Amino acid sequence: MSIKFLIGGNANTQVHFSAKTANRHGMIAGATGTGKTVTLQVLAENFSKIGVPVFLADVKGDLSGLATSGKMNDKIQSRINTIHIDNYSNHANPSLFWDMYAKQGHPVHTTISEMGPLLLSNLLELNEVQSGILYSAFAIADDEGLLLLDLKDLRSMLAWMAKNAKVLSSEYGNISSSSIGAIQRRLLVLEEQGGENLFAEPALELNDLMITDFSGQGVISIMDVTQLMNQSPKVYASFLIWLLAELYEQLPEVGDAEKPKLVLFFDEAHLLFDRAPRSLVDKIEQIVRLIRSKGVGVYFISQSPLDIPEDIMGQLGTKIQHALRAFTPKDKKNVRLVADTFRENPQLDTRSAITELRTGEALVSVLDDNGAPTPVERILICPPESRIGPLDAIERQNIMHRSPIKGRYDNAVDRESAYEILKQRTQQRIEQEQQAQEAEQKAKEEKQKERASGRRSNRQSYAESITKSVLRSVGSSLGRQLVRGIMKTLLGK
Ligand SMILES: Nc1ncnc2c1ncn2[C@@H]1O[C@H](COP(=O)(O)OP(=O)(O)OP(=O)(O)O)[C@@H](O)[C@H]1O
Ligand SMILES: [Mg+2]
Repeated sequence: MSIKFLIGGNANTQVHFSAKTANRHGMIAGATGTGKTVTLQVLAENFSKIGVPVFLADVKGDLSGLATSGKMNDKIQSRINTIHIDNYSNHANPSLFWDMYAKQGHPVHTTISEMGPLLLSNLLELNEVQSGILYSAFAIADDEGLLLLDLKDLRSMLAWMAKNAKVLSSEYGNISSSSIGAIQRRLLVLEEQGGENLFAEPALELNDLMITDFSGQGVISIMDVTQLMNQSPKVYASFLIWLLAELYEQLPEVGDAEKPKLVLFFDEAHLLFDRAPRSLVDKIEQIVRLIRSKGVGVYFISQSPLDIPEDIMGQLGTKIQHALRAFTPKDKKNVRLVADTFRENPQLDTRSAITELRTGEALVSVLDDNGAPTPVERILICPPESRIGPLDAIERQNIMHRSPIKGRYDNAVDRESAYEILKQRTQQRIEQEQQAQEAEQKAKEEKQKERASGRRSNRQSYAESITKSVLRSVGSSLGRQLVRGIMKTLLGK
């Protein structure tokens, strides 16, 4: 028997969602205030109920209501009656809170090296030459055994590259200090937007997004992105793309399953593609296509489905379209385009329905058990069983306090990486130069003394031996690395 849950209905029909089609992705679209967030809430709590963990980005904070029970009222009762829901019962969902700024939930971090040069170039909005240099920074860090974890690692890496630009250029291609300067300025902008909060350890473990509670319900991970959306939509988008790529890389293939392993909801989905270079958009499209086989479903939420690249739209199995406005000729054209993406229903004029839909009402098409899209239906979406609207600060604190992963992410660690090592190297070089100078000075004094006493020992003086050994050690630690670097360059290895 396949697992199904009710999405909504009208006086004549009910629309059910089949869990085994959940990895065929979907979208929720509609103008402001038409019911997108509540629809997302309804889907999320149904996935949780059937044991599927959910990750969602909470753009306005109102999805935190998932974590507490809703209350019955007349409006909800009348919706229940229209849809003919027979087992409605208010309840809270098992939830985890996340927040990059660590205020509204567990901090969510990743590292520079996990994010990789492609995404980072997009995040920093680098041009082609500059991203070429960023790729070199990753390659050099690799060759030198330097970890790039946080922004200060990348900063010191770039500073070090600027200093050694000549030597590095012959091996890694032209490294101009003006381009490095430009990247450094972009990094400053990112810092001002709070970007250093994203890059830190402990990095997020994907397993923590894929848990079920003691009763077998899927835990809903709610990432509060209210502050992030204000400060840096670009960081928000980069994080989501990173998450998608990371899940794709880490999860094993699963065959056709009766339900997905994880479902992701990406609100303000247009941001993922805004000003992204073609190469990145292609990558996202590819990952979205392939992640299906890993048992992950992705749901895009946006004002208009036309905000989402055609190639991705074509892949989406479940379509929930709330009302669109049609004031301008362009609006009207868009309504027609959106209406035509649905499989026709002879009983329904899709084009005119889109502009007439009431709040919490939608045009819906899902996939049937054979994976074919069902004819579009005009339905009221079920009311959620959890609260519509946000938690207050105390309610949130209480839930965070009971978190099963309390403490795991809450203390930042700063292990030895590029920043520390490069700093240490510089410090070492200064000390060694100092020692060498001192030894040389001592040797000079010794010689003078000997000359004054008119007697020259045939044995090597103590000071001289120190000088030599210090120079040797300079040559053996830092020196050797530099020499090795140069040799590599000369030999073109
Ligand atoms: N399925 C539903 N059941 C009950 N009430 C609903 C439902 N959908 C929407 N509503 C009501 O409509 C209001 C607005 O819905 P919602 O917040 O989901 O809109 P939205 O499209 O997300 O708006 P925005 O674009 O501003 O974020 C809700 O606060 C709720 O009162
Ligand atoms: Mg909303």
